[in-house]
Amino acid sequence: SRTAVRDADGVVTVGGLDVKKLAEEFGTPAYLLDEDDFRARCRAWKEAFGDDADVFYAGKAFLCRAVVRWLHEEGLNLDVCSPGELATALDAGMPAERIALHGNNKTTEEITRAVEAGVGRIVLDSMQEIVRVAHVAERLGKRQRVQLRVTVGVEAHTHEFIATAHEDQKFGLALADGQAAEAVRRALKLDGLELVGLHSHIGSQIFDTSGFEVAAHRVVGLLKEIRDEHGVELPEIDLGGGLGIAYTEHDDPREPREIAEGLRQIVTRECAAAGLAVPRLSVEPGRAIAGPTTCTLYEVGTVKELPGLRTYVSVDGGMSDNIRTALYDAEYSVTLASRTSDAEPMLARVVGKHCESGDIVVRDAFLPADLAPGDLLAVPATGAYCRSMASNYNHALRPPVVAVKDGAARVIVRRETEEDLLRLDVG
Ligand code: LLP
Repeated sequence: SRTAVRDADGVVTVGGLDVKKLAEEFGTPAYLLDEDDFRARCRAWKEAFGDDADVFYAGKAFLCRAVVRWLHEEGLNLDVCSPGELATALDAGMPAERIALHGNNKTTEEITRAVEAGVGRIVLDSMQEIVRVAHVAERLGKRQRVQLRVTVGVEAHTHEFIATAHEDQKFGLALADGQAAEAVRRALKLDGLELVGLHSHIGSQIFDTSGFEVAAHRVVGLLKEIRDEHGVELPEIDLGGGLGIAYTEHDDPREPREIAEGLRQIVTRECAAAGLAVPRLSVEPGRAIAGPTTCTLYEVGTVKELPGLRTYVSVDGGMSDNIRTALYDAEYSVTLASRTSDAEPMLARVVGKHCESGDIVVRDAFLPADLAPGDLLAVPATGAYCRSMASNYNHALRPPVVAVKDGAARVIVRRETEEDLLRLDVG
């Protein structure tokens, strides 16, 4: 991660700017995002996959107008999974044909908006949706490009995957019980649909890429069945997102180039074996692009030592700006960011200010024993699924996102105010 870097003088910086100065200017808590890093990650994915593949950034990781513009400029496409994300993408000028719409329960209204806007791809997730999208498209006199999300029976998380994973989940149509093949049969019959490919997403925060290989193998297997049964070769496959990032020093993420080469090889080999033309490949990284670009900056409020146990360090945010520790037992690291200290390390737990004992930001961390109210703490790798999953629990005001580029910082999502909260309260 390039965010929250300590330079030779011991100053913690984001995009070259001292976080202490950023705290003075923008307040805490705040998400500090390195725009160059975000763009560099976009380019790394784009270059790794080349011109004969597409990279769809998964907007659920973190989305706002500035991000949409960066994606547009860097030549990435965008995966949205809700009307809100679609509205943000269109508002910020992402061309509709570069947007893919996901979701396991898209309403007719949402589908209508997407088809009217001309989105490049809708990823079909159920039997009902096949009919729903076809009807909308026919009514609008259009033929909508669609992919079918298939559940390949691979479940991958971090360092392990299970190739015979149970299909007991809400997304997609299963290969194993013939639902996917049946969905293809139905989709091919409908005039409103142009079935262009198959989609698979196997999990998140994955380091072991063999799960993708098994998924690719099974997806190509269905492409072959489709060719044999219907005489059509679908021209696209999407292998989803899920690439892991380094939250702590124990994590060892793969580079986009490695992923791209691996996927390309396996797809090419499988297609050659099946006598199929190699389809256009796409992927949907979210976390791997947004995650490492951002750190959250907090101010320490109270320090409470529990003798023989640990020291509880309370910061001015918590589960409302980062639910991941409470929800997934996620691991983060933390750095004293406002000064250097030679004090002995103490075992600390960084907690938030919410009325819940589970309100933990960093479960176990060593911080200098002279830590005191007013110190700043930086938690790196909070760019994905932190602001996007932030809440107003206890009427917390969601922190701003500050983007740093070329030595200048600007707010791209402003801090919420009490007026924002009260505006919705119309009783
Ligand atoms: N494509 C599809 C269809 C997805 O469902 C997801 C994530 C992605 C792409 C992007 O996955 P990524 O590259 O970001 O791992 N809230 C959880 C993560 C949920 C991911 C859901 N789907 C977390 O904070 O870890």
